[in-house]
Amino acid sequence: MKILLLGPPGGGKGTQAKFLIDKLNIPQISTGDMLREHVKNETNLGIEAKEYMNSGQLVPDKVILGMMKVRLNQEDCKNGYILDGFPRTIPQSEGLDSLFLELNQSLDSVIVIEVNDDTIVNRMAGRRVHLPSGRVYHIQYNPPKIENIDDETGEKLIIRPDDEESTVRKRLEVYHSETSPLINYYESQNLVYKINGERDINIVSDSINEIINNL
Ligand code: AP5
Ligand code: MG
Repeated sequence: MKILLLGPPGGGKGTQAKFLIDKLNIPQISTGDMLREHVKNETNLGIEAKEYMNSGQLVPDKVILGMMKVRLNQEDCKNGYILDGFPRTIPQSEGLDSLFLELNQSLDSVIVIEVNDDTIVNRMAGRRVHLPSGRVYHIQYNPPKIENIDDETGEKLIIRPDDEESTVRKRLEVYHSETSPLINYYESQNLVYKINGERDINIVSDSINEIINNL
């Protein structure tokens, strides 16, 4: 099964992808997590991406498409995957469609998690992440068992550098101009399911499971 989670920054894509890994036994492919790993390791790609990410801009399509072409050809993608944060521009969607033609694959569904901008700004202020795994917490809505510590590894949680309010607002602007047009793109392929992401994390998860169970 191949699922695309689409939605604004802080909409809950990463949180919901983690539930789906367990349910479907397929990997989460988060371009944001992959890029953060490159930044941490100071690879050429990471050095190029860092400035875009920290200012809330998108990393150029060519870089992302090159990275994804390699990733989607890997062995663990054979039985499907959950796309989180890719594609997020029309050229990326078109690039993915060409890649699907080469690989003889297609998407099963595009789940759009809808959340208002004001909710997002509030959520980002309380987000804490475990960088190596991409696990996401919230100090109020989804706290770790021990403050600032990852439940599974005991390692420290961090605040993402792009979660500062002015950067979050920039990311929202970019989402509305560059990424939200993808909803129409995939609606024309009859793939879109919209869900209300303002509700409790577990209720959002139930809605997603219902969609997937009926595919
Ligand atoms: P990326 O890492 O993909 O960031 P994003 O899309 O902006 O989304 P986030 O990861 O911030 O949010 P999320 O939807 O995963 O929400 P989460 O589950 O964490 O990208 C970062 C940057 O990398 C981009 O700005 C860009 O520069 C670059 N990049 C990445 N992909 C790219 C691409 N394809 N092309 C070009 N550039 C790219 O939840 C957020 C918080 O809310 C958490 O604290 C969580 O606990 C909490 N929460 C979640 N759900 C709920 C709920 N229902 N109720 C209450 N709290 C909730
Ligand atoms: Mg995320």
